[in-house]
Amino acid sequence: MIEIAIDGTAASGKGTLAKKLAKKYGFIHLDTGLLYRKVANELIIKKKDNSTNLEYYSFEVAKNLNFLKLKKEDLRSEKTAKLASLIATYPKLREVLNSIQKEFVNNNKSKFPGCVLDGRDIGTKILPNANFKFFIDASIDIRAKRRLLEKNISFLHENDEKCMLQSLIREMKERDMLDSSRTTSPLVPASDAHLIDTSYMNADELLLKVTKIIEGN
Ligand code: DC
Repeated sequence: MIEIAIDGTAASGKGTLAKKLAKKYGFIHLDTGLLYRKVANELIIKKKDNSTNLEYYSFEVAKNLNFLKLKKEDLRSEKTAKLASLIATYPKLREVLNSIQKEFVNNNKSKFPGCVLDGRDIGTKILPNANFKFFIDASIDIRAKRRLLEKNISFLHENDEKCMLQSLIREMKERDMLDSSRTTSPLVPASDAHLIDTSYMNADELLLKVTKIIEGN
C-alpha cells in the first residue's frame, strides 16, 4: 500500500489536497483532525469542556466514542477547533486516537492500493515510513481569508469583515502556537517532507505540484 502523509497548518489547503489526491488515485483518505474535533465536540455536548479534569474526560470520551460516522459539518466551529487543539496536547488521548488511525490504515491495506492521511503528526508519528510526505503552509493572513470565505457570510459593513478577520487571525495564531509547541507529537515537518507554501497557489496548482513529485515528473 502506498502511504501519503500530509501535515500542515489550519486552512493551508492540506485537507483539500488530501481529498483530491485520494480521489485521483483511488486511495482511502482520513482527515485525522476530525478525530480530535469529534472528542472536543462530545466534551462540549457533555458540558465537560471547562472541567478542571479535562485530561481525564477527554480520555474517557475518546475510549467510548464511535468514530465511524464523522460528519465534518457538525465539527467545524472555531470553538470546537480550539478545544481540539487543547486536548491534542494530552499524550493518553493521542494514544487512543493514534491507534484508531493505525487501525484505519491496517484494516484497508488489502482493499486499497494506497492511503492519504492529513493532520499534524502524520509524517512524524502515524506514518513515519510513508512513501511521500508533504508539509503544507501559507501566510496567516491568507489562511484567515480562506477561512472567512468558507464561512460564506455576506457582510453589511466592511468593518464587520475586518473585525472577523482579525479575530480569525488571532484564533489561528493561538492554535498554531499550541499545536507546534506541545511536547507530544508537535506540528513540525518530518525531516524528509516536501515543504510547500500555498500562499499564492490555488487547490489545482497545489495538486499539480504534488502529483508531479509523486509521479517523478
Ligand atoms: O486539522 P484540524 O484543524 O481539523 O485539527 C484540529 C486540531 O486537532 C488541531 O488544531 C490539532 C489537533 N490535531 C492533532 O493534534 N493531530 C492531528 N494529526 C490532527 C489534528
